[in-house]
Amino acid sequence: MMTTDALNRFSLNDRVAIVTGSASGIGRAIAVVFAQLGARLVIADKDLRGAEKIADEICSARADAMAVNVDVTVQEEVDRMVKSTLARFGRIDILVNNAGMMASSTVLDMKEANLDKTLKVNLVSVALCSQAVAGHFIERRSGKIVNIGSSLSSRASVCNLSGGGADYCASKAAVQAFTRALAMELAPHNVNVNAVAPGITNTPMHTGLWDVAVAYYQNSVPLGRLAEPEEIADVAAFLASDAARYITGQTIHVNGGQIMVD
Ligand SMILES: NC(=O)c1ccc[n+]([C@@H]2O[C@H](COP(=O)([O-])OP(=O)(O)OC[C@H]3O[C@@H](n4cnc5c(N)ncnc54)[C@H](O)[C@@H]3O)[C@@H](O)[C@H]2O)c1
Repeated sequence: MMTTDALNRFSLNDRVAIVTGSASGIGRAIAVVFAQLGARLVIADKDLRGAEKIADEICSARADAMAVNVDVTVQEEVDRMVKSTLARFGRIDILVNNAGMMASSTVLDMKEANLDKTLKVNLVSVALCSQAVAGHFIERRSGKIVNIGSSLSSRASVCNLSGGGADYCASKAAVQAFTRALAMELAPHNVNVNAVAPGITNTPMHTGLWDVAVAYYQNSVPLGRLAEPEEIADVAAFLASDAARYITGQTIHVNGGQIMVD
Protein backbone atom coordinates (compact mmCIF):
# COMPACT_ATOMS: atom_id res chain seq x y z
CA MET A 1 0.00 0.00 0.00
CA MET A 2 2.74 2.46 0.95
CA THR A 3 4.66 1.56 -2.22
CA THR A 4 1.58 2.32 -4.34
CA ASP A 5 1.27 5.77 -2.74
CA ALA A 6 4.85 6.63 -3.61
CA LEU A 7 4.43 5.38 -7.20
CA ASN A 8 1.32 7.53 -7.54
CA ARG A 9 3.22 10.61 -6.44
CA PHE A 10 5.89 10.10 -9.09
CA SER A 11 3.34 9.19 -11.77
CA LEU A 12 1.93 11.65 -14.30
CA ASN A 13 -1.05 9.43 -14.98
CA ASP A 14 -3.80 11.30 -16.84
CA ARG A 15 -2.10 14.71 -16.41
CA VAL A 16 -2.48 17.05 -19.36
CA ALA A 17 0.88 18.59 -20.26
CA ILE A 18 1.83 21.23 -22.81
CA VAL A 19 5.51 20.99 -23.80
CA THR A 20 6.73 23.84 -26.00
CA GLY A 21 9.49 23.14 -28.51
CA SER A 22 8.78 19.41 -28.29
CA ALA A 23 9.37 18.58 -31.96
CA SER A 24 13.10 18.17 -31.24
CA GLY A 25 15.82 17.54 -28.68
CA ILE A 26 15.11 18.03 -24.97
CA GLY A 27 11.44 18.94 -25.55
CA ARG A 28 10.88 15.76 -27.53
CA ALA A 29 12.47 13.70 -24.73
CA ILE A 30 10.29 15.46 -22.13
CA ALA A 31 7.15 14.66 -24.14
CA VAL A 32 8.13 10.99 -24.54
CA VAL A 33 9.08 10.54 -20.85
CA PHE A 34 5.88 12.29 -19.70
CA ALA A 35 3.83 10.02 -21.99
CA GLN A 36 5.63 6.97 -20.57
CA LEU A 37 4.57 8.19 -17.11
CA GLY A 38 0.93 8.36 -18.24
CA ALA A 39 0.49 12.02 -19.25
CA ARG A 40 -1.53 13.27 -22.21
CA LEU A 41 0.63 15.53 -24.32
CA VAL A 42 0.38 18.68 -26.37
CA ILE A 43 3.38 18.76 -28.70
CA ALA A 44 3.62 22.51 -29.28
CA ASP A 45 6.15 23.72 -31.82
CA LYS A 46 6.60 26.11 -34.73
CA ASP A 47 7.70 23.03 -36.68
CA LEU A 48 4.28 21.45 -37.29
CA ARG A 49 5.53 18.46 -39.30
CA GLY A 50 8.06 17.64 -36.59
CA ALA A 51 5.39 18.02 -33.90
CA GLU A 52 2.98 15.74 -35.78
CA LYS A 53 5.70 13.11 -36.11
CA ILE A 54 6.33 13.08 -32.33
CA ALA A 55 2.58 13.06 -31.58
CA ASP A 56 2.19 10.07 -33.93
CA GLU A 57 5.08 8.25 -32.23
CA ILE A 58 3.48 8.80 -28.83
CA CYS A 59 0.03 7.74 -30.03
CA SER A 60 1.41 4.59 -31.63
CA ALA A 61 2.87 3.68 -28.21
CA ARG A 62 -0.75 3.77 -26.95
CA ALA A 63 -0.50 7.12 -25.21
CA ASP A 64 -2.39 10.30 -26.10
CA ALA A 65 -0.88 13.32 -27.83
CA MET A 66 -1.90 16.21 -30.05
CA ALA A 67 0.35 18.40 -32.22
CA VAL A 68 -0.17 22.17 -32.14
CA ASN A 69 1.49 24.64 -34.46
CA VAL A 70 2.58 27.65 -32.42
CA ASP A 71 5.14 30.39 -32.41
CA VAL A 72 5.52 30.89 -28.65
CA THR A 73 6.65 34.49 -29.13
CA VAL A 74 3.24 35.49 -30.52
CA GLN A 75 0.55 36.06 -27.90
CA GLU A 76 -2.45 35.19 -30.13
CA GLU A 77 -0.82 31.90 -31.14
CA VAL A 78 -0.07 31.06 -27.50
CA ASP A 79 -3.69 31.80 -26.55
CA ARG A 80 -4.84 29.57 -29.44
CA MET A 81 -2.55 26.76 -28.17
CA VAL A 82 -4.17 26.95 -24.72
CA LYS A 83 -7.69 27.10 -26.20
CA SER A 84 -7.15 24.05 -28.40
CA THR A 85 -5.65 22.14 -25.45
CA LEU A 86 -8.73 22.90 -23.32
CA ALA A 87 -11.03 21.98 -26.23
CA ARG A 88 -9.33 18.60 -26.66
CA PHE A 89 -8.48 17.60 -23.07
CA GLY A 90 -10.72 19.80 -20.88
CA ARG A 91 -7.95 20.99 -18.57
CA ILE A 92 -4.21 21.68 -18.27
CA ASP A 93 -2.10 20.37 -15.39
CA ILE A 94 1.47 21.04 -16.54
CA LEU A 95 3.23 23.60 -18.72
CA VAL A 96 6.83 22.99 -19.74
CA ASN A 97 8.42 26.11 -21.25
CA ASN A 98 11.16 24.42 -23.25
CA ALA A 99 11.23 26.17 -26.66
CA GLY A 100 14.46 28.07 -27.04
CA MET A 101 17.27 29.03 -29.38
CA MET A 102 21.04 29.28 -29.17
CA ALA A 103 22.76 32.63 -29.67
CA SER A 104 26.50 33.15 -29.65
CA SER A 105 27.29 36.63 -30.94
CA THR A 106 30.36 38.46 -29.72
CA VAL A 107 29.58 41.87 -28.30
CA LEU A 108 31.01 43.56 -31.40
CA ASP A 109 28.80 41.46 -33.66
CA MET A 110 25.55 41.83 -31.70
CA LYS A 111 22.68 43.25 -33.72
CA GLU A 112 19.62 44.72 -32.04
CA ALA A 113 17.30 42.51 -34.09
CA ASN A 114 19.16 39.34 -33.01
CA LEU A 115 19.13 40.41 -29.36
CA ASP A 116 15.38 41.04 -29.58
CA LYS A 117 14.84 37.62 -31.12
CA THR A 118 16.94 35.80 -28.50
CA LEU A 119 15.10 37.51 -25.65
CA LYS A 120 11.72 36.90 -27.27
CA VAL A 121 12.27 33.19 -27.90
CA ASN A 122 14.11 32.38 -24.65
CA LEU A 123 12.39 34.74 -22.18
CA VAL A 124 9.27 36.51 -23.46
CA SER A 125 7.78 33.19 -24.60
CA VAL A 126 8.11 31.85 -21.04
CA ALA A 127 6.14 34.84 -19.74
CA LEU A 128 3.48 34.60 -22.48
CA CYS A 129 2.88 30.87 -22.04
CA SER A 130 2.88 31.11 -18.23
CA GLN A 131 0.40 33.98 -18.37
CA ALA A 132 -1.83 32.02 -20.75
CA VAL A 133 -2.23 29.11 -18.28
CA ALA A 134 -2.01 31.04 -14.98
CA GLY A 135 -5.70 31.97 -14.75
CA HIS A 136 -6.71 28.33 -15.32
CA PHE A 137 -4.18 27.10 -12.71
CA ILE A 138 -5.30 29.73 -10.15
CA GLU A 139 -8.96 28.83 -10.69
CA ARG A 140 -8.24 25.13 -10.13
CA ARG A 141 -5.75 25.80 -7.29
CA SER A 142 -3.42 23.37 -9.03
CA GLY A 143 -0.70 23.45 -11.66
CA LYS A 144 2.99 22.96 -12.39
CA ILE A 145 5.19 25.14 -14.53
CA VAL A 146 8.63 23.80 -15.43
CA ASN A 147 10.97 26.16 -17.30
CA ILE A 148 14.00 24.92 -19.17
CA GLY A 149 16.82 27.31 -18.36
CA SER A 150 20.50 26.58 -18.80
CA SER A 151 23.62 26.10 -16.72
CA LEU A 152 24.72 29.22 -18.62
CA SER A 153 22.36 31.20 -16.38
CA SER A 154 25.19 31.21 -13.84
CA ARG A 155 28.39 30.78 -15.84
CA ALA A 156 29.97 31.94 -19.11
CA SER A 157 29.30 30.15 -22.36
CA VAL A 158 31.39 27.37 -23.86
CA CYS A 159 30.87 29.46 -26.97
CA ASN A 160 33.49 31.72 -25.41
CA LEU A 161 35.99 29.21 -26.77
CA SER A 162 35.14 30.69 -30.12
CA GLY A 163 33.98 34.05 -28.65
CA GLY A 164 30.54 35.28 -27.66
CA GLY A 165 27.38 33.96 -26.07
CA ALA A 166 26.62 36.75 -23.57
CA ASP A 167 23.24 37.22 -25.26
CA TYR A 168 22.20 33.59 -24.63
CA CYS A 169 23.60 33.59 -21.05
CA ALA A 170 21.64 36.74 -20.20
CA SER A 171 18.38 35.36 -21.63
CA LYS A 172 18.72 32.18 -19.52
CA ALA A 173 19.67 34.08 -16.34
CA ALA A 174 16.43 36.01 -16.85
CA VAL A 175 14.50 32.71 -17.04
CA GLN A 176 15.94 31.73 -13.65
CA ALA A 177 14.90 35.09 -12.13
CA PHE A 178 11.45 34.86 -13.73
CA THR A 179 11.02 31.36 -12.30
CA ARG A 180 11.79 32.51 -8.76
CA ALA A 181 9.54 35.57 -8.88
CA LEU A 182 6.62 33.79 -10.55
CA ALA A 183 6.88 30.99 -7.99
CA MET A 184 6.45 33.56 -5.22
CA GLU A 185 3.43 35.08 -6.96
CA LEU A 186 1.68 31.76 -7.59
CA ALA A 187 2.56 29.94 -4.34
CA PRO A 188 -0.60 31.17 -2.55
CA HIS A 189 -2.58 29.50 -5.35
CA ASN A 190 -0.88 26.11 -4.88
CA VAL A 191 0.95 26.40 -8.21
CA ASN A 192 4.60 25.26 -8.35
CA VAL A 193 7.08 27.00 -10.66
CA ASN A 194 10.56 25.54 -11.07
CA ALA A 195 13.32 25.33 -13.66
CA VAL A 196 15.74 22.73 -14.92
CA ALA A 197 19.13 24.12 -15.97
CA PRO A 198 20.79 21.63 -18.31
CA GLY A 199 24.47 21.57 -19.10
CA ILE A 200 25.39 20.87 -22.72
CA THR A 201 23.03 18.19 -23.98
CA ASN A 202 23.19 16.06 -27.09
CA THR A 203 20.57 17.75 -29.34
CA PRO A 204 20.44 19.39 -32.78
CA MET A 205 20.93 22.79 -31.09
CA HIS A 206 24.68 22.22 -31.18
CA THR A 207 25.06 21.36 -34.82
CA GLY A 208 28.47 22.72 -35.79
CA LEU A 209 29.57 23.28 -32.17
CA TRP A 210 29.37 19.73 -30.91
CA ASP A 211 33.01 18.68 -31.35
CA VAL A 212 34.33 21.77 -29.54
CA ALA A 213 31.83 21.27 -26.72
CA VAL A 214 32.58 17.54 -26.34
CA ALA A 215 36.33 18.10 -26.13
CA TYR A 216 35.96 20.93 -23.61
CA TYR A 217 33.32 19.31 -21.42
CA GLN A 218 34.81 15.83 -21.26
CA ASN A 219 37.67 17.32 -19.31
CA SER A 220 35.64 19.72 -17.19
CA VAL A 221 32.52 17.77 -16.14
CA PRO A 222 33.04 15.63 -13.00
CA LEU A 223 30.87 12.83 -14.43
CA GLY A 224 33.11 12.93 -17.53
CA ARG A 225 30.50 13.23 -20.27
CA LEU A 226 27.74 15.41 -21.65
CA ALA A 227 24.00 14.95 -21.04
CA GLU A 228 21.51 12.95 -23.08
CA PRO A 229 18.05 14.60 -23.49
CA GLU A 230 16.31 11.91 -21.39
CA GLU A 231 18.52 12.85 -18.42
CA ILE A 232 17.02 16.36 -18.52
CA ALA A 233 13.51 15.01 -19.16
CA ASP A 234 13.60 12.77 -16.06
CA VAL A 235 14.20 15.80 -13.81
CA ALA A 236 11.45 17.78 -15.55
CA ALA A 237 9.11 14.84 -14.91
CA PHE A 238 9.99 14.82 -11.22
CA LEU A 239 9.32 18.59 -10.95
CA ALA A 240 5.99 18.14 -12.77
CA SER A 241 4.90 15.34 -10.43
CA ASP A 242 3.30 15.44 -6.98
CA ALA A 243 6.55 14.09 -5.56
CA ALA A 244 7.92 17.65 -5.98
CA ARG A 245 4.88 19.36 -4.43
CA TYR A 246 6.93 21.14 -1.73
CA ILE A 247 9.55 22.48 -4.20
CA THR A 248 8.97 25.88 -5.79
CA GLY A 249 11.09 28.73 -7.15
CA GLN A 250 14.09 26.44 -7.62
CA THR A 251 16.45 25.89 -10.51
CA ILE A 252 17.81 22.35 -10.54
CA HIS A 253 21.18 22.13 -12.30
CA VAL A 254 21.54 18.95 -14.33
CA ASN A 255 25.10 19.14 -15.60
CA GLY A 256 27.10 16.16 -14.38
CA GLY A 257 28.45 18.11 -11.41
CA GLN A 258 29.94 20.92 -13.47
CA ILE A 259 28.36 23.46 -11.13
CA MET A 260 30.85 22.34 -8.44
CA VAL A 261 33.99 23.06 -10.46
CA ASP A 262 33.32 26.45 -12.06
N1 LIG B 1 21.01 21.38 -25.90
C1 LIG B 1 21.66 21.95 -24.90
O1 LIG B 1 22.87 21.77 -24.68
C2 LIG B 1 20.94 22.85 -23.95
C3 LIG B 1 21.60 23.22 -22.77
C4 LIG B 1 20.95 24.05 -21.88
C5 LIG B 1 19.67 24.49 -22.15
N2 LIG B 1 19.06 24.12 -23.31
C6 LIG B 1 17.70 24.60 -23.55
O2 LIG B 1 16.84 23.51 -23.75
C7 LIG B 1 15.76 23.90 -24.60
C8 LIG B 1 15.64 22.92 -25.75
O3 LIG B 1 16.85 22.94 -26.49
P1 LIG B 1 17.27 21.78 -27.51
O4 LIG B 1 18.72 21.60 -27.38
O5 LIG B 1 16.35 20.63 -27.39
O6 LIG B 1 17.02 22.56 -28.89
P2 LIG B 1 16.45 22.06 -30.32
O7 LIG B 1 16.94 23.08 -31.25
O8 LIG B 1 16.78 20.63 -30.55
O9 LIG B 1 14.88 22.19 -30.14
C9 LIG B 1 14.25 23.43 -29.93
C10 LIG B 1 12.80 23.31 -30.37
O10 LIG B 1 12.15 24.56 -30.08
C11 LIG B 1 11.37 24.91 -31.20
N3 LIG B 1 11.20 26.36 -31.23
C12 LIG B 1 12.18 27.30 -31.36
N4 LIG B 1 11.64 28.52 -31.38
C13 LIG B 1 10.29 28.36 -31.28
C14 LIG B 1 9.19 29.26 -31.28
N5 LIG B 1 9.36 30.58 -31.40
N6 LIG B 1 7.94 28.75 -31.15
C15 LIG B 1 7.76 27.41 -31.04
N7 LIG B 1 8.75 26.52 -31.05
C16 LIG B 1 10.01 26.99 -31.18
C17 LIG B 1 12.14 24.40 -32.41
O11 LIG B 1 11.32 24.28 -33.56
C18 LIG B 1 12.66 23.07 -31.89
O12 LIG B 1 11.73 22.03 -32.12
C19 LIG B 1 16.06 25.32 -25.02
O13 LIG B 1 15.36 26.23 -24.19
C20 LIG B 1 17.54 25.44 -24.79
O14 LIG B 1 17.96 26.78 -24.58
C21 LIG B 1 19.67 23.30 -24.22
